Amino acid sequence: MKLQNSWWFFFCGLWSLLALTSCKNRNTQDLSLRQKSDPHSFALVDESKVNHLDLDLEVDFEHKTIGGTATLSLENTPRAKNLVLDTKQLMIEEVTRLDSSGKSETVKFELGNTDPILGQPLTIPIKPSTQQVSVTYQTSPHAEALQWLEPNLTAGKRHPFLLTQSQAINARTWVPIQDGPGYRFTYSAKVTVPEALMAVMSASNPQEKSETGEYRFQMDQPIPAYLLALAVGDIQFKALGPRTGVYAEPGMLDKAAYELEEMEKMMDIAENMYGPYRWDRYDVIILPPSFPFGGMENPRLTFATPTILAGDRSLTSLIAHELAHSWSGNLVTNATWNDFWINEGFTVYFEYRIMEELKGRAYSEMLASLSYQDLVEEVRSMGPNSPETHLKLDLEGQNPDDGVTSIAYDKGYYFLRLVEEAVGRERFDAFLRSYFSENAFKTMTTEVFLARMHEELFANDEEKWSEVRVEQWVYGPGVPKNCPEADPERFQRVHDAMTSWGAGQVPSEIKTDDWSTHEWVHFIRSLPDSLTQAEMSSLDGAFKFTQRTNAEVQCVWYAKAISSRYEPAYPYIEKFLVDVGRRKFLTPLYKAMSQSEEGRKMALQIYEKARPGYHPISYKTIDNILEWPPAPGSGK
Ligand code: BES
Ligand code: ZN
Repeated sequence: MKLQNSWWFFFCGLWSLLALTSCKNRNTQDLSLRQKSDPHSFALVDESKVNHLDLDLEVDFEHKTIGGTATLSLENTPRAKNLVLDTKQLMIEEVTRLDSSGKSETVKFELGNTDPILGQPLTIPIKPSTQQVSVTYQTSPHAEALQWLEPNLTAGKRHPFLLTQSQAINARTWVPIQDGPGYRFTYSAKVTVPEALMAVMSASNPQEKSETGEYRFQMDQPIPAYLLALAVGDIQFKALGPRTGVYAEPGMLDKAAYELEEMEKMMDIAENMYGPYRWDRYDVIILPPSFPFGGMENPRLTFATPTILAGDRSLTSLIAHELAHSWSGNLVTNATWNDFWINEGFTVYFEYRIMEELKGRAYSEMLASLSYQDLVEEVRSMGPNSPETHLKLDLEGQNPDDGVTSIAYDKGYYFLRLVEEAVGRERFDAFLRSYFSENAFKTMTTEVFLARMHEELFANDEEKWSEVRVEQWVYGPGVPKNCPEADPERFQRVHDAMTSWGAGQVPSEIKTDDWSTHEWVHFIRSLPDSLTQAEMSSLDGAFKFTQRTNAEVQCVWYAKAISSRYEPAYPYIEKFLVDVGRRKFLTPLYKAMSQSEEGRKMALQIYEKARPGYHPISYKTIDNILEWPPAPGSGK
């Protein structure tokens, strides 16, 4: 069935390719919307489309709710009868509408049945002349986008903290909105918070605390709902360059500013490569460690985990990645979550190009090589023929978060690298520059992208086009045979070190002074799955892995410690899992523990302590791995 689907997608691709090659003045957005509406949104944009959102919200830390009014400005078609919004877990108090004569009236709305993944459609009767609709509402204390942190989970330990994570379909748990990546709107907001705290959003931001706790925001560029973001806490700002700066809790600010010093330079590199930065400022906020992701590309204000503050600027490629999303993702956006690789594959490609320019090819090839390892491991764990390993996904009926795998990132990256190598970097860069500028603030489907690429890069060379084997890469499983190979020359030293260790050389005599995080990660990954206690202690004695404070190194080493049952690391593993809520680190460690009965016991005991500090996005994933809560009488 899945295989038939993929052929069907391929034929659709071919169809649009033919249609497009005969049509010079194409409008890619129209085409992508006509092709397939979004399976993860209830919105009926053929009737009415939100083009501006105005929020007036109050943040209540005591009750863990946000409440207020969302006023939506509409663009209606003559047959508009209803405005349909996505909501999940929202308490809707009142809806009013305003028509063109300025008359405002309360209307009867309907909240539809609850879908466990998508939430409830909010249907509001309108007329073609309705200009605005205002929804007064409250969020639930369990809203999936929101994380309410008690003071003890912050660096300063004195004030609470609130952070949002709207991607992929969580915006609807804090704003009633058309929540699909294909639906864009501008926004403004007034947000009231307790006086000691500052609020920041994915918009124009304050650089100082206000006396009253009231903050105003403006986002004049149209964005999809998954880029709506808010953080509230004891936050301060520090400038890094003319267009860049960092927000963090006061105690973290200097460390953060040191780590992110290269940001302004990264922006210059990115602009030189793919055209002007279209969002005015670029700032980063370093959040408390329970933030479930490494980074989130909220426009004008990337949200980032403090686990990138390694002290040696060795994890800044994450910032390059989120910055790159200002082009791939935020400017040209995947039409639906089935096209997720259009956001992430391009961004990984762009990220490595920025890092190549900043630190040299030898550096970026280490990143590419680790990426390949991730890809191979992902395909191994999903199965070589799994439809989950296709670039183009079919996530209907599933939570789009299930599509957040290495495939979109790493297979997406290698596909684009293959195209770059096939046509040459110069032509590929020119192609991408015009792709970003012509599609700015629009959406992109896989099919429209492939058609454009065929037309602009391969029109006169069908033989080369067939050598790329697009259909295998995009609509087929696994890692195609023509996948490019990275050339990580700096890993040669790691292999030499591994050989001398294997030949009995004492680890402390192996020269590693100038290794970066990436060499260490590669070294630990290259060790056998399970080591003896003597081997583990000898490595640990020489390299002090257990006590490192670099989260990337900790994660791979702790996984090894679990599979080798190396007990001296256990208290550190527990501390790491209680302190850090980044899903990417939690998943492999809890998975490794759940491989054995004894490990599972340890996992459940740690999880009980750690879970209250995790974001809903993280604990939902770990609940699944551990089948939490444990059944009564199961020994826990
Ligand atoms: N946009 C993603 C995060 C995301 C994807 C959140 C899908 C929810 C659903 C972000 O840009 C990202 O990819 N973050 C990575 C870091 C990156 C360097 C690969 C992460 O958080 O690990
Ligand atoms: Zn990303």
